[in-house]
Amino acid sequence: MTKEQELRLRMISYDGGDPARIQHFIKVYTFAVMIGEGEQLPEETMEILRAAALVHDIGIKVAEEKYGSSDGKLQEKEGPPVARQMLTEIGYPQEVVDRVCYLVGHHHTYLDMDGMDYQILVEADFLVNLFENASTRKVIRSVDTKIFRTAAGRRILHAMFALDGAED
Ligand SMILES: [Fe+2]
Repeated sequence: MTKEQELRLRMISYDGGDPARIQHFIKVYTFAVMIGEGEQLPEETMEILRAAALVHDIGIKVAEEKYGSSDGKLQEKEGPPVARQMLTEIGYPQEVVDRVCYLVGHHHTYLDMDGMDYQILVEADFLVNLFENASTRKVIRSVDTKIFRTAAGRRILHAMFALDGAED
């Protein structure tokens, strides 16, 4: 089994009993792959992006247990140590672990997105969250302008929410 196959199954076990959370990260992972491929990222960056997409919300569970809250900042604080342990146990190289943990610790921060892995993780998470949160078209259009940067991400966003040609 590859490291990534192992990571996918470990994350499903980690969130076992919570199918909504599992289906969330599987969707984010798939959109991240689609955008990363569309943007022709090198394989080293794709590996980081895929791992980050799988574990990006790993801090929610700890934040809920510790503070009874899944606030974004608490997730960013609690996620990286749990992600680090899982990725290291699986055998991911140190530099991959470091970058993935950085992304887990920043994925609710939309300033200074320093890299395509960061940008695409955020776009993929929005593609899923805008639907899961039943966001209004006004919110979706604002996210399009303020957050989305890649052509591949924007193409999916526009098609999925039928943004082109609509007046609202
Ligand atoms: Fe997420």
